[in-house]
Amino acid sequence: MSSFYFPDGFLWGTATTAAQIETASDHDWKGVRSKDGYILGETAAHERFFREDAELIAGCGNTYRFSLDWAKLQPAPNAPFNPVWVTRYRDFMLDLKKRNIHLMLTLHHTTNPRWFADLGGWTKRANLVYFDDFVDQVISNFGDLIDSWITFNEPNNYAAMSFLFGQWPPYRHNPGAYNRVRRHLAMSHEHAYVRLKKAYPAKPVGIALSTVVFSGTTILGKWAASLADQQFTRETMKLFVPLDFIGVNYYARLQFTPWPLCEMTAPGRLAKRGLPHDKMWEYYPQGLFDFLKRFHDKYHLPLYVTENGICTDDDSVRIDRTKDYIRECARALKAGVDLRGYIHWTLMDNFEWKLGPTYRFGLVSVNRETMERTPKPSYGLFSEIARSNEIELSELHG
Ligand code: FCB
Repeated sequence: MSSFYFPDGFLWGTATTAAQIETASDHDWKGVRSKDGYILGETAAHERFFREDAELIAGCGNTYRFSLDWAKLQPAPNAPFNPVWVTRYRDFMLDLKKRNIHLMLTLHHTTNPRWFADLGGWTKRANLVYFDDFVDQVISNFGDLIDSWITFNEPNNYAAMSFLFGQWPPYRHNPGAYNRVRRHLAMSHEHAYVRLKKAYPAKPVGIALSTVVFSGTTILGKWAASLADQQFTRETMKLFVPLDFIGVNYYARLQFTPWPLCEMTAPGRLAKRGLPHDKMWEYYPQGLFDFLKRFHDKYHLPLYVTENGICTDDDSVRIDRTKDYIRECARALKAGVDLRGYIHWTLMDNFEWKLGPTYRFGLVSVNRETMERTPKPSYGLFSEIARSNEIELSELHG
């Protein structure tokens, strides 16, 4: 069996976000009840395990993608950052820098301070100044330690889940609000881009886009898929400029029959059709290659896989599929795509938003009683790939 060697300096790492691993502060997801019956409060107590988590992060790559809790840092509009949290976060980042970890910071990942939500959140243009101020203070307090920036995580998914499909706070079903929010996020992205480049011209700035391969099994399904791609992918890419790179968050294909074939909303239907899946979506690894190639050809920008993972309790499935996905990255590089890194979702089991903590993507398991961390075999696999900077190719991909 032959191997593929990734380019020198390729980024390997894991991604997390504050709200999914830190104990909830006064943000707009605190107290949300998940589908599996838990209340978002305790997640993975990351704030009590900074040192131990830094060790785990450094043990499986050279990169860490993460976010800060805006609500914790800024308890009121335009308030100066809470110095206690600045020191704690800085110490954590310094620990990672000592371990030579590339820090990729996401400025906004799903949650907002409660005060921001109460003021109307992203629906109001007048509120953008509060995020601008947050960005300014992130730059002055942490900018020296950050190597690359993601302004918004999945702005397409966030706007749709919160304002169109009513699944996430503030649970709206309002196409007007959805369009406004998307526009405001894009404006905020541009504000942040300008600020970040002014402070650190050489540090790249991008977004992490939610990418889904939409396809249809019927005429109506094909129509739905093309509308979804237009709205979710093409329109978002048009709005979010400028970009130094594109972060690709990829998990799945979504087929429309015309109803979406997805394990979360229609359990059992994927299996009935003989389609592989995890606890959430259809498993379709070649979709990752397709997106990387498509974005490379269309936008000519450097690419990072900023999230990719598998929602399963069977770690051997995680191992096999992680290898498959990384082979798709190798295939993209062979095809000339400027792919600079692969960041796995996620370091440790956490609180999977509205689905809850029993939906697990971690390379490390977390005991919810003791918060004890235990690396899974997949952690070992990923560490080894990251360390050796190579993947064994299967016959299929050789
Ligand atoms: C992505 C989110 C991330 C996590 C994964 C499974 O859409 O960015 O926080 O929930 O899905």
